[in-house]
Amino acid sequence: MKGLIDILDFSTEELDELIETACDIIENPADYSEKCKGKKLATLFYEPSTRTRLSFEAAMYELGGNVIGFSEANSSSSAKGESVADTAKTISCYADIIAMRHPKEGAALVAKNNASIPVINAGDGGHCHPTQTLADLLTIYREKGGFSGLKIGFCGDLKFGRTVHSLINALSRYEDNEVYLISPDELKLPSYVKKDVLVKQNIKYTQTTDLESVIGELDILYMTRVQRERFFNEEDYLRLKDSYILTEKKLEKAKADLSIMHPLPRVNEISVEIDNDSRACYFKQVLNGKYMRMALILKLLEEAEK
Ligand code: CP
Repeated sequence: MKGLIDILDFSTEELDELIETACDIIENPADYSEKCKGKKLATLFYEPSTRTRLSFEAAMYELGGNVIGFSEANSSSSAKGESVADTAKTISCYADIIAMRHPKEGAALVAKNNASIPVINAGDGGHCHPTQTLADLLTIYREKGGFSGLKIGFCGDLKFGRTVHSLINALSRYEDNEVYLISPDELKLPSYVKKDVLVKQNIKYTQTTDLESVIGELDILYMTRVQRERFFNEEDYLRLKDSYILTEKKLEKAKADLSIMHPLPRVNEISVEIDNDSRACYFKQVLNGKYMRMALILKLLEEAEK
């Protein structure tokens, strides 16, 4: 059964189709309001979420479908020791499609291998978060008109930031992009992403700890939160959490058409004064995420029916 575990599960042509559907939904929402009538989405969230879970739920309701699920592991039988595999088999008896978030890398793949309905990875530990990437891609498409010839800075927690890993993977398939990796030494991009993606695809990259030295080069600045929940000790988190705080002052050297992105939630990384700057795109990402999740649910349910 097809699902979405890693953004590379989809070809660039399939991503283009999703973007086309999302843009059509934006233009003609009424045409989609009954497309999933009689269908059920199960949201299985073993980790906290605001945007991903609620945008999946809003997406399904806007398609005329229904939603079941749980929003914390302790309210499911995983608290009694039930495995992800058994949960996936069980939910396949109740729903038509699953969106699952889990703290363990690879958990979504286990669910997919055991479910008889499509499984969408809504974030698996520090590994990847492909539907955030769908939101990011639609945002880049609407802001920049395409995915090539861009200078993209990723700033903050590049080690644990699964949205960064997924977006780098996605952008690596387009021409002539250049990546700036801005992080403290302790939170550098994992070497497997660097070697398997950037080096393998021959993508030019610059690694630095200094945001201000490169901000003027960038077309997109993708800020990230330091992922407290993935740290082994609180001391390290407290030392690193405010490594980068984007302020209007720091933006003085930035391009006038810079797009400032952030998967959210934000803690301190972007000063709220920037929310009113025309370059801020992070709440546009939130809305774009709902449209792309609508397009994704439609695609996977259509494929499941074939
Ligand atoms: N961007 C994102 O995944 O947000 P949530 O953790 O609120 O779902």
